Amino acid sequence: MTQPALDLVIAALEKIREENDRAPRASRTALARLQAEVLQKAGTQPLTAPNKAELLAPIRERVRGCTKCPHLACTRTQTVFGVGNPDAELMFIGEAPGVDEDKQGEPFVGRAGQLLTKIIKAMNFAREDVYIANILKCRPDTPAGTFGNRAPTPIEMQTCRPYLVEQIEIIEPKVLVALGAVAVEGLLGTRGTMRELRGRWHAYNGIPLMITYHPAYLLRNQAPSEKRKVWEDMLQVLERLERPITERQRNYFL
Ligand code: URA
Repeated sequence: MTQPALDLVIAALEKIREENDRAPRASRTALARLQAEVLQKAGTQPLTAPNKAELLAPIRERVRGCTKCPHLACTRTQTVFGVGNPDAELMFIGEAPGVDEDKQGEPFVGRAGQLLTKIIKAMNFAREDVYIANILKCRPDTPAGTFGNRAPTPIEMQTCRPYLVEQIEIIEPKVLVALGAVAVEGLLGTRGTMRELRGRWHAYNGIPLMITYHPAYLLRNQAPSEKRKVWEDMLQVLERLERPITERQRNYFL
């Protein structure tokens, strides 16, 4: 295929993807590799397909300058794009940055984040091995002088979702974990109670999706039974990833 023809194909595929994130099935990474290969065959460029970090970089820049939600763009300290290994097998999805994340520019660094990091470590991963992102890249604004965070609205989530869709397309994790019902609503567009959603496999665009409680819920509800449920969900994730599970891990309580 000649380069102009390939450009046309890629542009057409990208347009279809932008209009409907279920199609086409060629991922961004696959398209980038295809393009690099064709360029190399044409002798225009040596073969170095952009890696996933390079593919994420322009999206991070678009997020940094995003003003689609003017009320959030003018109240945020900074955007919170995502953190971790762009080649991760495992990706966690939360709802939105809170006050700590807004300050530090990194998801899950507050109290709930510390618990998530503990869960990740108990799974025998380092925080740097997995990828962590939110549905919203800006902190939901709260009235001046008030404390705490608020949940994102459905419109804010719909507006921001395409960035997450692109992140998932590039990272292509083997397993996704959605933390809490709000993250599920943002990702799948379906509302449900955690009682009916958690603990079993769902799918997002063909990627196995485990739904579990948000760590903030576990901070509010310290019952060992609730913590154990999250850990059982994580054991299912480890099994799906074909990671070895020790006896100690099987008996673990968060
Ligand atoms: N809660 C979330 O859902 N995301 C964060 O980044 C922090 C807390």
